[in-house]
Amino acid sequence: MSGLINISELYDLGGKVAIVTGGAEGMGKETCRFLASAGATVAVADINLPWAQKTAGEIVAAGGKAHAYQVDLGSEQSVVDLVRSVRADQGRLDILVNVAGLQDREFLEDTSVELWDKLHHVNLRGSFLTIRAAAKVMKTDGNGGRIVNIASMGAVHPIFEGLVAYNASKSGVLGLTRNAAYELAAHGITVNALLPGNVTTEGQARSPGPPIDMEKIKHMTPPLGRTGRTSDIASAILFLVAPASQWMTGQTLVVDGGHLNK
Ligand SMILES: NC(=O)c1ccc[n+]([C@@H]2O[C@H](COP(=O)([O-])OP(=O)(O)OC[C@H]3O[C@@H](n4cnc5c(N)ncnc54)[C@H](O)[C@@H]3O)[C@@H](O)[C@H]2O)c1
Repeated sequence: MSGLINISELYDLGGKVAIVTGGAEGMGKETCRFLASAGATVAVADINLPWAQKTAGEIVAAGGKAHAYQVDLGSEQSVVDLVRSVRADQGRLDILVNVAGLQDREFLEDTSVELWDKLHHVNLRGSFLTIRAAAKVMKTDGNGGRIVNIASMGAVHPIFEGLVAYNASKSGVLGLTRNAAYELAAHGITVNALLPGNVTTEGQARSPGPPIDMEKIKHMTPPLGRTGRTSDIASAILFLVAPASQWMTGQTLVVDGGHLNK
Protein backbone atom coordinates (compact mmCIF):
# COMPACT_ATOMS: atom_id res chain seq x y z
CA MET A 1 0.00 0.00 0.00
CA SER A 2 1.33 3.43 -0.88
CA GLY A 3 0.33 7.04 -1.36
CA LEU A 4 -1.61 9.37 0.85
CA ILE A 5 -5.07 8.87 2.29
CA ASN A 6 -7.95 11.06 1.10
CA ILE A 7 -8.95 12.21 4.57
CA SER A 8 -11.83 14.38 3.42
CA GLU A 9 -13.52 11.27 1.98
CA LEU A 10 -13.52 9.78 5.46
CA TYR A 11 -15.73 12.66 6.63
CA ASP A 12 -17.79 13.12 3.47
CA LEU A 13 -21.56 12.87 4.02
CA GLY A 14 -22.49 13.99 0.51
CA GLY A 15 -25.74 12.34 -0.63
CA LYS A 16 -26.63 11.19 2.90
CA VAL A 17 -29.82 12.09 4.74
CA ALA A 18 -29.67 12.60 8.50
CA ILE A 19 -32.28 13.09 11.21
CA VAL A 20 -31.03 15.05 14.23
CA THR A 21 -33.49 15.16 17.13
CA GLY A 22 -33.17 18.16 19.40
CA GLY A 23 -31.83 20.12 16.45
CA ALA A 24 -33.50 23.39 17.43
CA GLU A 25 -30.79 24.49 19.86
CA GLY A 26 -27.71 23.53 21.87
CA MET A 27 -25.67 20.49 20.85
CA GLY A 28 -28.36 19.37 18.42
CA LYS A 29 -28.23 22.63 16.50
CA GLU A 30 -24.43 22.47 16.28
CA THR A 31 -24.66 18.85 15.14
CA CYS A 32 -27.00 19.89 12.31
CA ARG A 33 -24.45 22.52 11.27
CA PHE A 34 -21.56 20.02 11.29
CA LEU A 35 -23.45 17.32 9.36
CA ALA A 36 -24.69 19.83 6.77
CA SER A 37 -21.13 21.15 6.42
CA ALA A 38 -20.02 17.58 5.61
CA GLY A 39 -22.60 17.46 2.82
CA ALA A 40 -25.59 15.75 4.43
CA THR A 41 -29.20 16.81 3.99
CA VAL A 42 -30.30 17.37 7.58
CA ALA A 43 -33.79 16.91 9.00
CA VAL A 44 -33.81 19.25 11.99
CA ALA A 45 -36.33 17.45 14.21
CA ASP A 46 -37.59 19.05 17.39
CA ILE A 47 -40.69 19.66 19.48
CA ASN A 48 -39.91 23.37 19.07
CA LEU A 49 -40.80 23.89 15.40
CA PRO A 50 -40.06 27.65 15.18
CA TRP A 51 -36.53 27.15 16.47
CA ALA A 52 -36.04 24.07 14.27
CA GLN A 53 -37.08 26.22 11.30
CA LYS A 54 -34.58 28.86 12.39
CA THR A 55 -31.76 26.25 12.51
CA ALA A 56 -32.71 24.89 9.09
CA GLY A 57 -33.02 28.40 7.66
CA GLU A 58 -29.56 29.38 8.89
CA ILE A 59 -28.03 26.26 7.33
CA VAL A 60 -29.77 26.84 4.00
CA ALA A 61 -28.72 30.52 4.03
CA ALA A 62 -25.12 29.35 4.50
CA GLY A 63 -25.35 27.02 1.49
CA GLY A 64 -26.25 23.74 3.22
CA LYS A 65 -29.27 21.44 2.93
CA ALA A 66 -31.71 21.31 5.84
CA HIS A 67 -35.43 20.98 6.53
CA ALA A 68 -37.33 21.46 9.78
CA TYR A 69 -39.68 18.78 11.14
CA GLN A 70 -41.75 18.85 14.30
CA VAL A 71 -41.62 15.76 16.50
CA ASP A 72 -42.56 14.96 20.07
CA LEU A 73 -40.37 12.10 21.26
CA GLY A 74 -42.97 11.40 23.93
CA SER A 75 -45.42 10.28 21.25
CA GLU A 76 -44.98 6.99 19.38
CA GLN A 77 -47.13 8.21 16.49
CA SER A 78 -45.20 11.47 16.20
CA VAL A 79 -41.89 9.57 15.90
CA VAL A 80 -43.30 7.13 13.33
CA ASP A 81 -44.65 10.08 11.32
CA LEU A 82 -41.28 11.87 11.48
CA VAL A 83 -39.29 8.95 10.09
CA ARG A 84 -41.91 8.22 7.43
CA SER A 85 -42.00 11.88 6.34
CA VAL A 86 -38.23 12.26 6.14
CA ARG A 87 -37.87 9.05 4.11
CA ALA A 88 -40.68 10.14 1.77
CA ASP A 89 -39.54 13.77 1.39
CA GLN A 90 -35.79 13.19 1.12
CA GLY A 91 -35.80 9.77 -0.58
CA ARG A 92 -33.59 7.94 1.91
CA LEU A 93 -32.42 7.82 5.51
CA ASP A 94 -28.78 7.13 6.40
CA ILE A 95 -28.16 8.72 9.78
CA LEU A 96 -30.07 9.20 13.03
CA VAL A 97 -28.62 11.28 15.86
CA ASN A 98 -30.64 11.28 19.09
CA VAL A 99 -29.69 14.54 20.79
CA ALA A 100 -33.03 15.69 22.23
CA GLY A 101 -33.30 15.24 25.97
CA LEU A 102 -34.71 16.67 29.16
CA GLN A 103 -32.27 17.65 31.91
CA ASP A 104 -34.57 18.32 34.90
CA ARG A 105 -32.88 17.80 38.28
CA GLU A 106 -34.23 16.79 41.68
CA PHE A 107 -32.76 15.21 44.82
CA LEU A 108 -33.52 11.51 45.32
CA GLU A 109 -36.07 11.92 48.12
CA ASP A 110 -37.89 14.67 46.22
CA THR A 111 -37.95 12.86 42.89
CA SER A 112 -41.62 12.23 42.11
CA VAL A 113 -42.78 9.29 40.06
CA GLU A 114 -43.99 11.88 37.55
CA LEU A 115 -40.49 13.36 37.16
CA TRP A 116 -38.93 9.89 36.90
CA ASP A 117 -41.44 8.89 34.22
CA LYS A 118 -41.09 12.18 32.31
CA LEU A 119 -37.31 11.84 31.99
CA HIS A 120 -37.45 8.17 31.04
CA HIS A 121 -40.31 8.83 28.64
CA VAL A 122 -38.37 11.33 26.53
CA ASN A 123 -34.71 10.41 27.11
CA LEU A 124 -34.93 6.60 27.00
CA ARG A 125 -38.30 5.62 25.50
CA GLY A 126 -38.02 8.45 22.95
CA SER A 127 -34.61 7.18 21.81
CA PHE A 128 -35.98 3.63 21.56
CA LEU A 129 -38.84 4.89 19.38
CA THR A 130 -36.62 6.78 16.96
CA ILE A 131 -34.14 3.88 16.69
CA ARG A 132 -36.93 1.36 16.07
CA ALA A 133 -38.51 3.48 13.36
CA ALA A 134 -35.21 4.38 11.67
CA ALA A 135 -33.90 0.80 11.81
CA LYS A 136 -36.96 -0.48 9.94
CA VAL A 137 -36.36 1.99 7.11
CA MET A 138 -32.59 1.42 7.02
CA LYS A 139 -33.00 -2.37 6.93
CA THR A 140 -35.62 -2.20 4.17
CA ASP A 141 -33.51 0.17 2.06
CA GLY A 142 -30.42 -2.03 2.53
CA ASN A 143 -27.86 0.81 2.52
CA GLY A 144 -26.67 0.31 6.11
CA GLY A 145 -26.88 3.25 8.47
CA ARG A 146 -25.46 5.19 11.40
CA ILE A 147 -27.17 5.81 14.71
CA VAL A 148 -25.70 7.90 17.55
CA ASN A 149 -27.34 8.36 20.93
CA ILE A 150 -26.35 11.19 23.23
CA ALA A 151 -26.15 9.91 26.80
CA SER A 152 -24.05 11.68 29.45
CA MET A 153 -20.89 11.07 31.45
CA GLY A 154 -23.37 10.81 34.34
CA ALA A 155 -24.59 7.57 32.79
CA VAL A 156 -21.41 5.87 33.99
CA HIS A 157 -20.39 7.99 37.01
CA PRO A 158 -22.30 10.32 39.37
CA ILE A 159 -21.28 13.94 38.76
CA PHE A 160 -23.28 15.98 41.26
CA GLU A 161 -26.48 15.58 43.27
CA GLY A 162 -29.97 15.82 41.84
CA LEU A 163 -29.43 13.66 38.77
CA VAL A 164 -30.78 10.30 39.93
CA ALA A 165 -33.66 10.11 37.45
CA TYR A 166 -31.76 11.84 34.64
CA ASN A 167 -28.64 9.69 34.92
CA ALA A 168 -30.71 6.50 35.25
CA SER A 169 -32.46 7.40 31.98
CA LYS A 170 -29.09 8.03 30.32
CA SER A 171 -27.68 4.73 31.69
CA GLY A 172 -30.64 3.07 30.00
CA VAL A 173 -29.58 4.71 26.74
CA LEU A 174 -26.27 2.80 27.00
CA GLY A 175 -28.07 -0.54 27.30
CA LEU A 176 -30.31 0.43 24.40
CA THR A 177 -27.24 1.35 22.33
CA ARG A 178 -25.37 -1.91 22.93
CA ASN A 179 -28.34 -4.15 22.25
CA ALA A 180 -29.51 -2.25 19.17
CA ALA A 181 -25.92 -2.37 17.87
CA TYR A 182 -25.82 -6.13 18.35
CA GLU A 183 -29.07 -6.72 16.46
CA LEU A 184 -28.41 -4.25 13.66
CA ALA A 185 -24.75 -5.07 12.91
CA ALA A 186 -25.70 -7.74 10.37
CA HIS A 187 -27.47 -5.02 8.38
CA GLY A 188 -24.47 -2.69 8.29
CA ILE A 189 -26.09 -0.32 10.76
CA THR A 190 -23.80 0.96 13.52
CA VAL A 191 -25.14 2.23 16.85
CA ASN A 192 -22.87 4.11 19.24
CA ALA A 193 -23.35 6.38 22.24
CA LEU A 194 -21.61 9.66 22.96
CA LEU A 195 -21.21 10.71 26.58
CA PRO A 196 -20.74 14.47 26.88
CA GLY A 197 -19.20 16.10 29.90
CA ASN A 198 -20.46 19.47 31.08
CA VAL A 199 -21.35 21.68 28.11
CA THR A 200 -22.78 25.14 28.69
CA THR A 201 -26.08 25.46 26.85
CA GLU A 202 -29.10 27.71 27.33
CA GLY A 203 -31.35 24.65 27.48
CA GLN A 204 -29.35 23.20 30.35
CA ALA A 205 -29.43 26.54 32.20
CA ARG A 206 -33.23 26.71 31.80
CA SER A 207 -33.80 23.15 33.04
CA PRO A 208 -35.84 22.98 36.25
CA GLY A 209 -34.20 21.85 39.49
CA PRO A 210 -32.99 22.91 42.92
CA PRO A 211 -30.16 25.49 43.08
CA ILE A 212 -26.75 23.93 42.49
CA ASP A 213 -24.30 24.19 45.41
CA MET A 214 -21.39 25.94 43.67
CA GLU A 215 -18.91 24.74 46.36
CA LYS A 216 -19.83 21.14 45.60
CA ILE A 217 -19.26 21.48 41.87
CA LYS A 218 -15.87 23.20 42.00
CA HIS A 219 -14.43 19.89 40.82
CA MET A 220 -16.46 20.24 37.62
CA THR A 221 -13.64 21.98 35.72
CA PRO A 222 -12.11 19.08 33.79
CA PRO A 223 -8.37 18.49 33.38
CA LEU A 224 -8.43 20.16 29.95
CA GLY A 225 -9.30 23.36 31.78
CA ARG A 226 -12.65 24.53 30.43
CA THR A 227 -16.26 23.43 30.14
CA GLY A 228 -17.29 21.90 26.86
CA ARG A 229 -18.51 23.69 23.76
CA THR A 230 -21.30 22.39 21.56
CA SER A 231 -18.71 22.10 18.76
CA ASP A 232 -16.65 19.68 20.91
CA ILE A 233 -19.62 17.33 20.90
CA ALA A 234 -20.72 17.92 17.30
CA SER A 235 -17.26 17.13 15.90
CA ALA A 236 -17.21 13.80 17.77
CA ILE A 237 -20.72 13.04 16.48
CA LEU A 238 -19.49 13.76 12.96
CA PHE A 239 -16.80 11.09 13.44
CA LEU A 240 -19.41 8.58 14.64
CA VAL A 241 -21.64 9.07 11.57
CA ALA A 242 -18.85 9.36 8.99
CA PRO A 243 -17.06 6.65 6.99
CA ALA A 244 -14.08 7.17 9.34
CA SER A 245 -15.77 5.14 12.10
CA GLN A 246 -17.27 2.39 9.94
CA TRP A 247 -15.79 -0.49 12.00
CA MET A 248 -17.08 0.75 15.36
CA THR A 249 -20.39 -0.20 16.95
CA GLY A 250 -21.95 -0.69 20.38
CA GLN A 251 -19.39 1.67 21.92
CA THR A 252 -19.49 4.62 24.27
CA LEU A 253 -17.33 7.61 23.38
CA VAL A 254 -16.70 9.94 26.31
CA VAL A 255 -16.11 13.61 25.34
CA ASP A 256 -15.66 15.37 28.66
CA GLY A 257 -12.38 17.31 28.71
CA GLY A 258 -10.88 14.46 30.74
CA HIS A 259 -13.37 14.74 33.62
CA LEU A 260 -13.88 11.00 34.14
CA ASN A 261 -10.13 10.48 33.94
CA LYS A 262 -9.46 12.55 37.08
N1 LIG B 1 -25.49 20.32 28.35
C1 LIG B 1 -24.79 19.40 28.98
O1 LIG B 1 -23.90 19.70 29.78
C2 LIG B 1 -25.06 17.94 28.76
C3 LIG B 1 -24.19 17.00 29.33
C4 LIG B 1 -24.39 15.66 29.10
C5 LIG B 1 -25.44 15.25 28.28
N2 LIG B 1 -26.27 16.17 27.75
C6 LIG B 1 -27.34 15.69 26.85
O2 LIG B 1 -27.06 16.19 25.56
C7 LIG B 1 -28.27 16.47 24.86
C8 LIG B 1 -28.29 17.92 24.40
O3 LIG B 1 -28.08 18.76 25.50
P1 LIG B 1 -28.27 20.35 25.35
O4 LIG B 1 -27.79 20.96 26.62
O5 LIG B 1 -27.74 20.78 24.05
O6 LIG B 1 -29.88 20.38 25.34
P2 LIG B 1 -30.88 21.60 25.02
O7 LIG B 1 -31.83 21.66 26.17
O8 LIG B 1 -30.14 22.82 24.61
O9 LIG B 1 -31.67 21.05 23.74
C9 LIG B 1 -32.54 19.97 23.84
C10 LIG B 1 -33.45 19.99 22.64
O10 LIG B 1 -34.35 18.87 22.77
C11 LIG B 1 -35.64 19.31 22.40
N3 LIG B 1 -36.66 18.46 23.02
C12 LIG B 1 -36.98 18.39 24.34
N4 LIG B 1 -38.00 17.55 24.51
C13 LIG B 1 -38.33 17.06 23.30
C14 LIG B 1 -39.32 16.15 22.84
N5 LIG B 1 -40.20 15.57 23.66
N6 LIG B 1 -39.37 15.87 21.52
C15 LIG B 1 -38.51 16.47 20.66
N7 LIG B 1 -37.56 17.35 21.03
C16 LIG B 1 -37.48 17.64 22.34
C17 LIG B 1 -35.71 20.74 22.90
O11 LIG B 1 -36.74 21.51 22.29
C18 LIG B 1 -34.31 21.25 22.56
O12 LIG B 1 -34.25 21.80 21.27
C19 LIG B 1 -29.41 16.10 25.82
O13 LIG B 1 -29.83 14.79 25.56
C20 LIG B 1 -28.74 16.18 27.18
O14 LIG B 1 -29.37 15.35 28.12
C21 LIG B 1 -26.12 17.50 27.96
